[in-house]
Amino acid sequence: MLIALGVTGGIGAYKAVEVARGLQKQGHEVVAIMTSSASRFVGPVTFEAITRRRVISDQWEPGANADIEHIALASTIDLLLVAPATANIIGKLANGIADDFLSTLYTATRAPVLIAPAMNTNMFAHHAVRRNLDTLAANGVRFVEPGEGYLACGWIGRGRLAEPDEIVAAAEAVLRPPGPLRGRKVLVTAGPTYEDLDPVRYVGNRSSGRMGFALAAEAARRGAVVTLIAGPTSLDPPSVHQVVRVRRAAEMHAAVLEQAGDAAVVIMAAAVADYAPEQRVNQKVHKGADTITLVLTRTPDILADLGARRLAAGTGPVLVGFAAETEDVVARAAEKLHRKHADLIVANDVSRGDAGFEVATNAVTLVSRDGVDPLPLETKVRVAAEILDRVERLLAPAEVRA
Ligand code: C5P
Repeated sequence: MLIALGVTGGIGAYKAVEVARGLQKQGHEVVAIMTSSASRFVGPVTFEAITRRRVISDQWEPGANADIEHIALASTIDLLLVAPATANIIGKLANGIADDFLSTLYTATRAPVLIAPAMNTNMFAHHAVRRNLDTLAANGVRFVEPGEGYLACGWIGRGRLAEPDEIVAAAEAVLRPPGPLRGRKVLVTAGPTYEDLDPVRYVGNRSSGRMGFALAAEAARRGAVVTLIAGPTSLDPPSVHQVVRVRRAAEMHAAVLEQAGDAAVVIMAAAVADYAPEQRVNQKVHKGADTITLVLTRTPDILADLGARRLAAGTGPVLVGFAAETEDVVARAAEKLHRKHADLIVANDVSRGDAGFEVATNAVTLVSRDGVDPLPLETKVRVAAEILDRVERLLAPAEVRA
């Protein structure tokens, strides 16, 4: 496989030479990309000799744009690995700044991205760096954590670039993750649905899409082929195999049915509207009467539909639903588990300020046929990992059942 190895300006840049060698030993091809500060630590000729390819170190060098190289490379690489990654490049990538070849490649590629940070202990702990790392993690970027020890700057602490063999192993795990989700299709729905009343008004809900996006990113991180069906949200979806945008519950229903056939797992994290206006009028409704009555009709229950189809067919994907409740949370989730023939219901109490809609954290209870498992308050990224751990365990029995 082809790996773009981004080298940025840290003292650990010399270890990147060993990383390139290690990747080659695993049978990969490596193209090295150096930032201008990286070239002050290690000469591009070293990487050229090791990789037997031209090293890209200057976006403006004649020849570098002959085939719009960052776009051409972006679509051919299987992995973008940045080792070492400085606080500077982490900040640029997290914020979409594309002012050199490496940062431009990052925004242009849809290949998985693996980052090995290396910096002074205080820099690594700085709130701005932590925030940027969290942003990247929430968008599916993976990390090789820096080690603790004696740093080149004389400090002892966390921030030292991980060892080359550890970085190579992490790259291998990304390219060939060994878990049960590897290569399996996972369908995730996220966000609200908007049910239009007229060209300017709709009935919607407060779902931000964060939980579904975190699940999609985590499933992709575990090697799944992820299709994300997203309702209207202001957040950017993670880079996964396929993103399908929908608006109404009826559109989400059609998209899910179209995609669910060959899925191993369906996770319905979307807050689908239960009712939609009976009629959508084509012209804006003008005010007049003191009161007006809205007539709403039930939308199709997508999860229940999938559950019924699986029951009838005797085979089908692992089904995970969500239950956003304000009272009797667990009892209502258990009732949904049975009524919708799901395997797992993720119940959350949306009356709490720190969980549920529009916030980055969630406190959920996992309800399955095996019992009830409350999880502590965690970021949605962590909750997604816990849910997928459970899904991985459910996959095997589902196959036996099929
Ligand atoms: O019944 P309730 O809306 O609380 O169930 C929530 C779960 O069912 C969520 O997983 C949601 O995505 C799914 N759902 C659905 N179709 C609907 C309503 C909810 O698939 N029309």
